[in-house]
Amino acid sequence: MIEVEDLRKSFGELDAVAGLSFKVEKGEVFGLLGPNGAGKTTTISMISGLLKPDSGSIRVAGMEVGENRRRVSEVLGIIPQEIALYDELTGRENLHFWGSLYGMSGKKLRESTERILDLVGLTERADDPVREYSGGMKRRINLGAGLIHDPDLILLDEPTLGIDPQARNNILGIIKDEVSGGKTVLYTTHYLEEAESLCDRIAIIDSGTIHAKGTLRELTELAGEEDLVAISGGFSASAAEELLENVRIDHIEDSLVRFFVPEKATTGRLLNRFLKAGIHIEKVSISEPSLESVFLRITGYELRD
Ligand SMILES: Nc1ncnc2c1ncn2[C@@H]1O[C@H](COP(=O)(O)OP(=O)(O)OP(=O)(O)O)[C@@H](O)[C@H]1O
Ligand SMILES: [Mg+2]
Repeated sequence: MIEVEDLRKSFGELDAVAGLSFKVEKGEVFGLLGPNGAGKTTTISMISGLLKPDSGSIRVAGMEVGENRRRVSEVLGIIPQEIALYDELTGRENLHFWGSLYGMSGKKLRESTERILDLVGLTERADDPVREYSGGMKRRINLGAGLIHDPDLILLDEPTLGIDPQARNNILGIIKDEVSGGKTVLYTTHYLEEAESLCDRIAIIDSGTIHAKGTLRELTELAGEEDLVAISGGFSASAAEELLENVRIDHIEDSLVRFFVPEKATTGRLLNRFLKAGIHIEKVSISEPSLESVFLRITGYELRD
């Protein structure tokens, strides 16, 4: 459904998207997982035709995006990161507005609006102005606006940003239903557990580049079998290096060291060496092979929820 090849976009000196390539197959949920500023929104904007790439090609449902904007927009539903609603209009009026932008009218528009209100669970609040909605309700109607024309391919840009867990589950449930109904989804997020629970395949994106992609299983296999242990505290890099003789080190600097341990028992033994040397330990974290540890290994930092 989507084929992106060597896509690039710079803003001045900054390479926001620096040579992305990936494919999204029909019926799958493909996740772009990455931190703030990774280039997720820039990528989504180029796929939806809102932003012109510097170079590279994007095909949606077999069509070159730059040349077929109108036909592409019929296939595509875009749920933008920034909520795109009129505060003064009611939920129903907002959906009408978006539907008419997609060329819908009359009975078809009315029926679709009611279907979407039901889908996002806002039928009862449909006549209230959006400014009176909670954050989660705004996110839901924003989602509905992107689905009003029943698109085959849905681009979701961090649709659960800043809402509580219940509203988030609600939105994830709606997306799962759409997928089981045969839709294809490109989903951006910086929440690891969303990528884990929702996506068939995940690409880890950072600084405009995809660093790894595959199924959850393929990605966690990249992390290997070993636990990754991080210790921070009052020590120098050289002192830590001495204490961790024969241990495979991932990263070392003053006050922070990360290393791999083949089995749990080893961790305790190594920690003991630090304590015996009279070193003050501030924090210890152990990550088992998981998407999180892959992410940490690839980008060098933790994604926090
Ligand atoms: N219109 C613009 N002008 C200048 N720089 C931009 C513009 N849009 C994005 N950028 C920069 O490009 C980089 C990628 O931004 P982008 O919005 O694509 O990231 P993101 O992955 O969506 O991040 P977030 O999780 O914060 O939404 C950032 O460094 C951002 O500051
Ligand atoms: Mg973004």
